[in-house]
Amino acid sequence: MDIISILDKIFIGQDLRSIKKSTLEIIKEVDNNPNKIINYNLNGNNKSIKKELLDKELKQILATRTIERTKYYLNRLIKSLSVQKEGKINDLNLNRWKEYDDIITDSLWLFDKRDTFGVHKAGYWGNFIPQIPNQLLRRYTKKGEWVLDPFLGSGTTLIECKRLGRNGVGVELNKQVAISAKTNASKEKNQFKVITKILPGNSSTIDLKTEMKKLHLNAFQFIIMHPPYWDIIKFSNKKDDLSNAKSTLDFLGMFRQVLENVYPLLDKGRYCAVVIGDKYSAGEWIPLGFYVMQEMINKGFKLKSTIIKNFDQTTAKRNQKELWRYRALAGGFYIFKHEYIFLFKK
Ligand SMILES: C[S@@+](CC[C@H](N)C(=O)[O-])C[C@H]1O[C@@H](n2cnc3c(N)ncnc32)[C@H](O)[C@@H]1O
Repeated sequence: MDIISILDKIFIGQDLRSIKKSTLEIIKEVDNNPNKIINYNLNGNNKSIKKELLDKELKQILATRTIERTKYYLNRLIKSLSVQKEGKINDLNLNRWKEYDDIITDSLWLFDKRDTFGVHKAGYWGNFIPQIPNQLLRRYTKKGEWVLDPFLGSGTTLIECKRLGRNGVGVELNKQVAISAKTNASKEKNQFKVITKILPGNSSTIDLKTEMKKLHLNAFQFIIMHPPYWDIIKFSNKKDDLSNAKSTLDFLGMFRQVLENVYPLLDKGRYCAVVIGDKYSAGEWIPLGFYVMQEMINKGFKLKSTIIKNFDQTTAKRNQKELWRYRALAGGFYIFKHEYIFLFKK
């Protein structure tokens, strides 16, 4: 369908009646199309738009009462179909913003299940759901840019990078975990021909600049950090593992060292996300998330958003749901059901 030239022709029409008559004709044609997506041609390139959205826009044109308003909506529709309006940090076309209904812009993220698309596995204890890197990568990176994850774990970020056409580097302290992340990520189809690099090592000391030189890379455009929530899950017995920190201060000191190492590698004006939760210790709520947020601000980052994300209880807690509810009622505390995603700009 050559919608743009049809719309252009309608646009030439001068009186409201003839414009509305032609608009009604296209609406009929769109309605008769059995597909949910309408393909159209733009300067020899194939483009598409959701049928539902095109229909809505056309009906809005039909509903107007003045020629000025009608032409305004027509012009807006032609522009959204033919002109790409992109920001500096992602590939979203702002002229088609209404189509991104799966991109979250609210600060409360409620997911009822993890995305199991592609090669993602839920097996690694302490991993995050793929929707987290998926949402962030689409908002804060463009295709072909470079992403760093200094707490790689099972490789969720790098799998999403591959799916979305972003190059990714991940660092993981535990060698066995790094190896299985590599195996896992290599199973994801590399349809955008991106580079995926997994480095076993300690993120506070690893020489990333040398690794970047080998990749002919000057800087990253996005960093995503998902550190251990101190000792909630013990990831290894290694002393450099943040989950083996001896105290809150020790944990923050270790986090700061990782930050010192990766901060200079991010392009100015670009974003860094930290995914973290709080914890209880000796009957006291430790606001780890807020402490880590303060470390980021002290380093020079500007806080752009605080997102609250729900999580389900661990299997162990779920099995003892009643007991935990009783303990919460008796002990005057609340059971953790949320974690934070902090967004910072350099
Ligand atoms: C919360 S998990 C990350 C999970 C990951 N987002 C995923 O989806 O699988 C934190 C990871 O950081 C690793 N880690 C801890 N201290 C580290 C350090 N100093 N350098 C690199 N990795 C470290 C742990 O081994 C663990 O796999």
